[in-house]
Amino acid sequence: MDTLKFAVLPGDGIGPEVMAVALEVLARAAGEENLKPEPVEADAGGVAIDRHGTALPPATLERCDGADAILFGSVGGPKWENLPPKEQPERAALLPLRKRFSLFANIRPGLLYPELVGASPLKSERIPEGIDLVCIRELTGGIYFGQPKGTRDLPDGDREALDTMVYKKSEIERIAEVAIATARSRGKRICSVDKANVLETSVLWRQVVTDYMAAHAPEIALSHMYVDNAAMQLARDPNQFDVLLTENMFGDILSDEMAVICGSLGMLSSASLGTVENRHGHRFGLYEPAGGTAPDIAGKNLANPCAQVLSAAMMLRFSFGLEALADRIEAAVRKTVTSGMRTGDIAFGGPSVGTREMGDAIISNL
Ligand code: IPM
Ligand code: MG
Repeated sequence: MDTLKFAVLPGDGIGPEVMAVALEVLARAAGEENLKPEPVEADAGGVAIDRHGTALPPATLERCDGADAILFGSVGGPKWENLPPKEQPERAALLPLRKRFSLFANIRPGLLYPELVGASPLKSERIPEGIDLVCIRELTGGIYFGQPKGTRDLPDGDREALDTMVYKKSEIERIAEVAIATARSRGKRICSVDKANVLETSVLWRQVVTDYMAAHAPEIALSHMYVDNAAMQLARDPNQFDVLLTENMFGDILSDEMAVICGSLGMLSSASLGTVENRHGHRFGLYEPAGGTAPDIAGKNLANPCAQVLSAAMMLRFSFGLEALADRIEAAVRKTVTSGMRTGDIAFGGPSVGTREMGDAIISNL
């Protein structure tokens, strides 16, 4: 029996309870294919601060190093909000993991099933077929990591802070490559989002994307859009987009907008792919739901486990090459939520069930 070895970092808030469902779904689905998931659990985030004094302890990194992928829950919560910003779970756990494993490609599907258009804050007549687009966000460059970065007191008594936005041609080309692969598997259109009317990094971005695609993917239709316009167009007519390609901070903002127009944070999964090949000959990656720790409903069996389950499906697809199995899990989630079943955190209508019951339903729909 082949084993699938991945690190599991459930984190804080609803993380552990939705992770438990995802692991059950994985075990069941993989077992039927004679595959055995081997989750190796470790502490990250607030729980790691409490137990080990740091959000990303060495033992956790070691377990991640030894794995072929990381299935991540979510980190953070009110308990750790008063720590200095650099020590807070989100920044101290997620950002170093992204850097350590060069997780440069963040893939966030924006999917709203046609049956659930009523859950979107957009008017149903704008999205009669639901929503289906993907945001490809560069994740290890730009203003998040650029140097110099810091805060200092000035001689005149004033104080200043500084972040630096930097992009190299090579960083732009490799994320363009991921967008191209994504577009080839879908609608064959890429809209590259930048702020080339103001930023030097964006001028380079636009030029590199244009040249790279002309040379390597002439069959993909490429358009460019300024980020302010893209934010507006997403709210006006999201289905004009197939694949959005953008840099780190613009992608952070646009992907949250994409999340909200898709109706429920509890449905959105994501993959962050690295440059490293794992033992299966696929990319090492980190997979996490987009929704956060939802401390208000944590531990109450109310959280929607779908995003975590869908993130696990993405892990099967991208880090283990198990496309058919990923499809099967995604179909089971779709069948479950479109049958009207919902958990406390989705405004979908229909009977409300608990996290665990939702998990059981997904398993029975596999
Ligand atoms: C995300 C989050 C992170 C980011 C935070 C928690 C550091 O907002 O994954 O989108 O800004 O990248
Ligand atoms: Mg974000």
